[in-house]
Amino acid sequence: MEEVLPHRVAQLLRDARRVVIFTGAGISAESGVPTFRDDLTGLWARFDAQQLATAEAFHADPDLVWGWYEWRRARVRRAEPNSGHLAITTIESRIPDSTVITQNVDDLHERAGTPATIHLHGSLFAPRCTAAAAHPATFPDQPDGEAAEPHEGRRISPPRCASCRELVRPGVVWFGEALPEAALTAAAEAATACDVLLTVGTSGVVYPAAEIPRIAASSGATVIQVNPQPTPLDRIAAINLRGSAAQVLPTLVAAAWR
Ligand code: APR
Repeated sequence: MEEVLPHRVAQLLRDARRVVIFTGAGISAESGVPTFRDDLTGLWARFDAQQLATAEAFHADPDLVWGWYEWRRARVRRAEPNSGHLAITTIESRIPDSTVITQNVDDLHERAGTPATIHLHGSLFAPRCTAAAAHPATFPDQPDGEAAEPHEGRRISPPRCASCRELVRPGVVWFGEALPEAALTAAAEAATACDVLLTVGTSGVVYPAAEIPRIAASSGATVIQVNPQPTPLDRIAAINLRGSAAQVLPTLVAAAWR
């Protein structure tokens, strides 16, 4: 591990006063949540996620898309935060001015102990009315046990809004949609002000989220990337740690605060 995790990286983290941890699907991969670019299986095998995560797909076939999100939600419910999520909470406890920004729509950061996670792409657990954002956001979880979702998935009709009877949709940001403004602003501010940004498990290709590490780098922060694969962020990262989040992050934390 020594050549992968040089002493200098641990020191950079230990000495940081403001840290941003920017995560993508890779941090949840070792919790059993597939990354967005993994091949789909079962009912969705002939699609890729980018085809299903659109308003057009939902309008064309709401049952297919809602079923996919219920299947994803069930998988997340069954998953547990991994040692990568937990290592991030240790960083937060050591460096109080830390901000966790995720592109993930799961709740594994929260369940690991990061309640103030900024979600750039919304949440699987906040469905909303397709017609009016102001309509009450308290839609019940799918009844009869998400745990019972069949492995191959199934079509499910979305519920209807209690106020206007329009369809309820997943509370996530679909391709082509704007990111929640408050989240994006808070993320950009944190990236501008940090001295170290850790980017973990993201391919760094989906904008505007992928701007966040680039904003940090151009504002003078040191960018440290944790990813088993090269990504377009390699060029802006001062340090590339090629390994999995659940392995590299605990090692990094242990080296920083041994
Ligand atoms: N640890 C760290 N990184 C990992 C691991 C792991 N165990 N497993 C995979 N990765 C890396 C992959 O190498 C890849 O670079 O995680 C990255 C996952 O990339 P994507 O699937 O593209 O996920 P993400 O970057 O979060 O996608 C961004 O795009 O599809 C939309 O809205 C969706 O939020 C998503 C956004």
